[in-house]
Amino acid sequence: MRRPVLAANWKMHKTAREAEAFADAFLPRVARIDDVEIVLAPPFTALAALARRLAGSRVALAGQNVNPEKQGAFTGEVSPPMLVEVGCAFCIVGHSERRALYGESDALVAAKARALLEHGIRPIVCVGETLEQREQGRTAAVVGAQLRASLASVPAERAAELVVAYEPVWAIGTGRTATPELAQEVHALIRARLGEQFGAAADRIPIQYGGSVKPENAAGLLAQKDIDGALVGGASLEAESFARIVRAGGAP
Ligand code: 13P
Repeated sequence: MRRPVLAANWKMHKTAREAEAFADAFLPRVARIDDVEIVLAPPFTALAALARRLAGSRVALAGQNVNPEKQGAFTGEVSPPMLVEVGCAFCIVGHSERRALYGESDALVAAKARALLEHGIRPIVCVGETLEQREQGRTAAVVGAQLRASLASVPAERAAELVVAYEPVWAIGTGRTATPELAQEVHALIRARLGEQFGAAADRIPIQYGGSVKPENAAGLLAQKDIDGALVGGASLEAESFARIVRAGGAP
């Protein structure tokens, strides 16, 4: 019912030339996999070059961020129509690095998600608790509140176009992955909250896990009932490593 979405978040890694080299190595490795969605999110400067390399393949392109406005005096920002024209089908919003380092609020994330949908781009909306919040037993409350506020502007009839990424902050870039059982627990909670907000469409929204996903742990995570893909940082930078993770999401 839900196609897994395996997405590479390259963060601030790879020039345009490096992105092209990745595509040349990666595409032959995933050419025969057709039961998952594969997404690459390079820095803005590599989008156009990567779009040319991915043309004719099944691999989709994503932005890592967007400004909700169409155009205007917003130095350094990129708008939804710009992402559309360069070929993005997805865009990450609300990544914990943007929330923590650039002060992005749930309200801003909500505006971005809505603007993306208005332009036909599927938002990958990230939520996740910090270690301190988890240790205080606040995971459900924090993730539930982030989710509700970040998706507040999404009309119910567009909900099926969303992707949600659960990324526990303590697992990002630390090598400390959530166990499949622990991740599934939060994914089930996210599914239930999505059901309260969007009804039956919740069953169609892929919920990705992110945080130190590696070829070695991907299959165990992806086997969980409510884990419908992965948002991968470090292990997506190398073609064979990300291809192995994509294969773990495909049919056995
Ligand atoms: P790592 O896979 O490097 O832990 O990063 C996860 C992440 O933040 C993906 O968005």
